[in-house]
Amino acid sequence: MPDNTFRAHDEAFWRTFADRYDVQPGPINLENGYFGRMSRTVIEEYQRNIEMINSSNSVHVRQRFEKLESVEIRKQLADLLRVPAQAVALTRNASDALQSLIRNYNRLQPGDQVLICDLEYDTVKSAMRWLARYRGVEVIEIEHSHPASFESLVASYRAAFEQHPRIKLMALTHVTHRTGLVMPVKAIAACAREHGIDVILDGAHALGQIEFDLEELGISFAGYNLHKWIGAPLTLGFLYIAPHRLADIDPDMDEFHFPATDIRSRTPYSTPNIPALLTLPLVFEEHRAIGGAAAKGARLNYLRNLWVDAVQDAPGIEVVTPNDPRLYCGITSMRFTRQADQQAMVDRLLSDYNLFTVARSGSACGSCIRITPGLISTAADMHLMAKALIELS
Ligand SMILES: Cc1ncc(COP(=O)(O)O)c(C=O)c1O
Repeated sequence: MPDNTFRAHDEAFWRTFADRYDVQPGPINLENGYFGRMSRTVIEEYQRNIEMINSSNSVHVRQRFEKLESVEIRKQLADLLRVPAQAVALTRNASDALQSLIRNYNRLQPGDQVLICDLEYDTVKSAMRWLARYRGVEVIEIEHSHPASFESLVASYRAAFEQHPRIKLMALTHVTHRTGLVMPVKAIAACAREHGIDVILDGAHALGQIEFDLEELGISFAGYNLHKWIGAPLTLGFLYIAPHRLADIDPDMDEFHFPATDIRSRTPYSTPNIPALLTLPLVFEEHRAIGGAAAKGARLNYLRNLWVDAVQDAPGIEVVTPNDPRLYCGITSMRFTRQADQQAMVDRLLSDYNLFTVARSGSACGSCIRITPGLISTAADMHLMAKALIELS
């Protein structure tokens, strides 16, 4: 087992790691939250698979992929999550997975309530609002207080559950894309359970940078992608349903290619990106070889702390994401308190310092700048970011 704490600080180790990636010259990318890079070896494998599938066509797919390889890939994915293979079904991305779970959850009655908060991903919000029209439920929307703490986050859910006793289903985002806040999923899920509320977990940003065990978290329904922190080709995601809860999600639009007892009937049936899927075994191998989410998360947290510690008390800067290690990961947001337009400051970071970030709005605490180091970011990048923030403040 690698010493992840040591390695997190080890620039030489991570420089060698970074050598496995091709990077176009250009701005210093601190907007690695959109999607991750594939390593050169993964790209080569992906290209080989594209050529192989293109030349062998349906002969390989029908004889080998459908019968053998797809079964093995699904098993490897389940192993990564430490869940049984029948608990996961591959999708094209996290949005597809989450939308399938939301639209096919069959325990809602007209008059029930569903819950979302300001930090959810917009696709999840709109899917939950869609339930109001198509299932006759009421959507309760809460805003988290700012600055948030572990206790305040759990308390705001507890208050919502007590105030709205007809809530039956809620969305919960493990790591919000707006500020990188890591939700206390286990505590919130336990509280939801006490109130008879089911949780659909959006894990898009959690997989690969946070270690978790779905059973231990107490989560029965979740959606993920594999292209953020795992390093897979774009177009891959999956949904998770705890096997004993499969009957609570209907087959997707009467999907019939798999029996109703098979979780794969809970996703839209279509021809997937087979070369990308065939690349997954190498992706998983590389993810494990580096030390998995423990090593990646430790490195990203280390890089995050370099800039956050340097600017935390600087006048004119507010780090929006809490500094409680239970509530942050590599993604963290800040705002310039003396400037109204954070997008203008994103532009200044790029034009004056060659630092590429993204402005994020939509959370109740206001608009902010999201800073996301990647696995090939360096300590020097973070020092430059801290210097730029202080000078611009
Ligand atoms: C929190 C969150 N949920 C869901 C998604 C959607 O993921 P995908 O692009 O795989 O559909 C994203 C994408 O950035 C996200 O940040």
